[in-house]
Amino acid sequence: MPATQIREITPASRLENVRYAIRDLACIADEVAKQGHKILPLNVGDPNVFDFETPAHLIEAVYGAMRDNKNGYSPSSGIKPALDAIRGEAARKGIGSVQDVFVTSGVSETVDICLTALLNPGDNLLTPCPDYPLYSAVLAKLEIGLNTYYLNEKDGWQPDLDDIRKKITPRTRGIVLINPNNPTGSVCTRGMLEEIAELARRHNLIIFADEIYDKLIIDDDAHVAMAAVAPDVPVITFGGLSKNYLAPGWRIGWGIASGEASAIKPYLEGVNKLLRARLCANHPEQYAIAAALDGPQNHLIDVKRKLRSRRDLTMRWCAETPRVSCVAPRGAFYAYPSVDIPEGDDVFVTELIRQKHVMVVHGSGFGQRPGTNHFRIVFLPDEKTLTAAYGAIGDFLRERYG
Ligand SMILES: Cc1ncc(COP(=O)(O)O)c(C=O)c1O
Repeated sequence: MPATQIREITPASRLENVRYAIRDLACIADEVAKQGHKILPLNVGDPNVFDFETPAHLIEAVYGAMRDNKNGYSPSSGIKPALDAIRGEAARKGIGSVQDVFVTSGVSETVDICLTALLNPGDNLLTPCPDYPLYSAVLAKLEIGLNTYYLNEKDGWQPDLDDIRKKITPRTRGIVLINPNNPTGSVCTRGMLEEIAELARRHNLIIFADEIYDKLIIDDDAHVAMAAVAPDVPVITFGGLSKNYLAPGWRIGWGIASGEASAIKPYLEGVNKLLRARLCANHPEQYAIAAALDGPQNHLIDVKRKLRSRRDLTMRWCAETPRVSCVAPRGAFYAYPSVDIPEGDDVFVTELIRQKHVMVVHGSGFGQRPGTNHFRIVFLPDEKTLTAAYGAIGDFLRERYG
């Protein structure tokens, strides 16, 4: 026996506030699955789990790169053909004042690098509520307290401008805008983008425009890029292959930095320092970027047709189900219904998995106004699966709440 006993290794206390409700629920689902039940998964925003496949020409591009031994490290910002394609995409989005572009391991890494490069202790960053939980997880890691602004359900989940105005402090450095939005599926109006740009100008904020779903506008109206309406304002636009190009497992994202050069350049030096420190994003997968952005976009026709049909089915169910009401999503593949129940939505969701084996994510996992309850539906599954899941949720609501 060794003389000294090994003691417990504890995680850093700053991780206490790191939550990722979407994946945390998986533990409960595992229990249910072990009992032999089939889970109906309406919880994970991964198209490839359902009937969506990565376009073949992207796979060919990556395969070719691997065969050509592009398996070493790449330049830290990304390979040239990818950077050129992203600049081309920025131009198509109407972003004129591009100062830099860089490739990352998914938008997740863009978020991590961009927030880390910006924030000092005591600073704050405006993030939406409800929110995609990665932002608050990264802020927790940086030991930055949350400063959230509400999305307004009564206004189709548009950002609540009055709330944003109230929340800006002398230490507010920037604002995150997720458009199209996860978890609500809302899409910002041009007028809203102009108002936010004006606030950013007045208070010297950088805007992080998470536009990872910008090609998934369900009803075919145009997506307006934040950076296109605010060419002078420092903006980092986030994009990637995970959603628009159905390849989340490849972990490819990017940032497009725009705005007045003198304002944004010092910050970009910080971003590039971090990009160099982590060497590079996945190398062979970067060869899919030019193939995706400059190649055929046919897959989007089929994707949007499926999303439209599944969104409409979802909305019909919401309209006819007591206790449930929902703002119709216009982009991405999420719906965020409010549910009128006498207990927390975390209990609702947990019991729904245990009793009916349907997985959705509780609103409290994304944030919501006090006194409200919501749940997030991913409407990627086919119509048959969605119909079965909605039938089960309807039964559950009736049996549990009358
Ligand atoms: C709004 C939003 N941003 C970023 C991400 C992360 O994307 P990636 O797979 O590129 O890391 C997601 C994933 O669901 C998302 O919904």
